[in-house]
Amino acid sequence: MTATVIDGKARAEDLVTEVTQRAAKLRAEHGVIPGLAVIIVGSDPASQIYVSSKSRRAAACGFHSVQRDLPEETSEADLLAEVVRLNADPTIHGILVQLPLPRHIDAGKVIQAIAPEKDVDGFHFINVGKLGTGETETALVPCTPAGSMLLIEKVLGKDLSGKTAVVVGRSNIVGKPMFNLLLKANATVTIAHSRTPDLPALCRTADILVAAIGKPEFIKGDWIKPGAAVIDVGINRIDAPEKGEGKTRIVGDVDYAGALKVAGAVTPVPGGVGPMTIAMLMANTLRAAEQSVTG
Ligand code: GUN
Repeated sequence: MTATVIDGKARAEDLVTEVTQRAAKLRAEHGVIPGLAVIIVGSDPASQIYVSSKSRRAAACGFHSVQRDLPEETSEADLLAEVVRLNADPTIHGILVQLPLPRHIDAGKVIQAIAPEKDVDGFHFINVGKLGTGETETALVPCTPAGSMLLIEKVLGKDLSGKTAVVVGRSNIVGKPMFNLLLKANATVTIAHSRTPDLPALCRTADILVAAIGKPEFIKGDWIKPGAAVIDVGINRIDAPEKGEGKTRIVGDVDYAGALKVAGAVTPVPGGVGPMTIAMLMANTLRAAEQSVTG
């Protein structure tokens, strides 16, 4: 068997097209332009790349896009003051503070300072609680799991009744919200993590296998149930001596070549979940702007 490759780039483009159209409608009907503010503290090169692609994407959707580049030595109080300013700014509907933050800043405190209705990362306790209690109509849901769900829907439809799902990884950003979204869609869900015994055997029970552990090519082809849908959330940079000295390449948390032989469908890395994350950020910002009108 050769798995279907799930084209996250194409699905993300479709979503961005829809968001752009809905943003134009919101502007025409209510005079509201969705506004996204992205804050970055320090000069971590990977974070800089992510943040500038988020800002560019927002502008391409017709959004009002603001980027605040703050120096590494910014104090927690100054960052909190910036968040408070953006909370009060009526032209801004979504606020994202890029993580990780420098060690002298308490990231939890900063996240909880963001107004829940502008929390387009979905990390505020209010949004976490809404998702956990199934209030997905008004919750802002974290972008990576929300985007992963759209890819799962594309393959298996919206109702996952009768399906077994295993999420490997228990982070607040991916694993836990992914669990809640799969449960809401009626899947029977298990979260596995570094303390789970016999992970390969558990993974082999999964009709839907979500890998979010941050370990390159950790999940092998023979851990996958034949025909399963495999969603690879990992983005890991590894050495690629075959490309030349000092070269690197990006791989996921799943052994892709192995997965292709066994799975029914699999997301590639890059080009799978990654593009969906940024597209979902745009969708969340639009949603926050729409909800600012409808209340
Ligand atoms: N850093 C890595 N992933 C994320 C994310 O989803 N949101 C934020 N704010 N920072 C990140």
